[in-house]
Amino acid sequence: MEILVAKSAGFCFGVKKAIEKAFNENGERVFTYGPIIHNKQVVEDLKNRGIEVVEDLENIKPKDKVIIRSHGIPKNEYKKLEEKGAIIVDATCPYVKHIHKIVEQRYSEGYKIIIVGDENHPEVKGINGWCDNTATIISDVNDIEKLNQNLGKVCLVAQTTFNQNKWYNLSSEIIKRAKEIIIYNTICSATDERQNEAIELSKQVDAMIIIGGKNSSNSRKLYEICKENCKKAIFIEDESELDLNDIKGLSKVGITAGASTPDYTIKAVIDKLHSVDIEKIEDDAKNEEHEL
Ligand code: F3S
Repeated sequence: MEILVAKSAGFCFGVKKAIEKAFNENGERVFTYGPIIHNKQVVEDLKNRGIEVVEDLENIKPKDKVIIRSHGIPKNEYKKLEEKGAIIVDATCPYVKHIHKIVEQRYSEGYKIIIVGDENHPEVKGINGWCDNTATIISDVNDIEKLNQNLGKVCLVAQTTFNQNKWYNLSSEIIKRAKEIIIYNTICSATDERQNEAIELSKQVDAMIIIGGKNSSNSRKLYEICKENCKKAIFIEDESELDLNDIKGLSKVGITAGASTPDYTIKAVIDKLHSVDIEKIEDDAKNEEHEL
């Protein structure tokens, strides 16, 4: 079986940086504010090093170290952490930080902020927190109805992992309603590259395996893309979820992985796939023995 692995599979630059930062931290009480990534194994590894997840900032005490993950947080939460006397270890992805700055500045200049993204995603909640939670958040054409017919000054930004085509469609609809508009295409190229590569790869193979957390929105998007372009798409969190019967007899299998999938998980899946070939070699050898 030929196994083709997407070059862009796995941690993106921002996630890699955040994880490195977290693993390099030490101290009495160290926390990540929310799970550092959507990956149980990585969260568990950090826990074994004494770095726990905190979900509620009320539990923070003075001198606690709090690692902010790559998604970033709202402005008022930085303030809260400072008031609590926490030591902030900021692992917000620089690309997300850049959106915070845009939103803060344009909001202060009187622009209405519109975010194209998933309103429940922590990154989007974080961005909204840089304009006093006044942004309108839209993720599909039906949401356009939320907007006034005649918008004044608009500043439009996107969630970094948003789908490019959907972004173009939605921005062109918003342009029609705005008197003045500044558009920042803040979709991260890492996401774009990963999605484009997934499209290309899934057209060439008999099955695509997408490795990623079930809660990871970028992994789910990869699965959707692969499903559209390949007759078989298999979404797994790690090698234990891979049923080899699903790929037996196939000659070409592609692999991609979401931004929060560690290299060792990708490698474990590849190793398991190779075991199909080993089984086949052993079966063939047994058959040959019988024939003799
Ligand atoms: Fe940053 Fe892009 Fe990753 S915004 S966290 S490098 S997907």
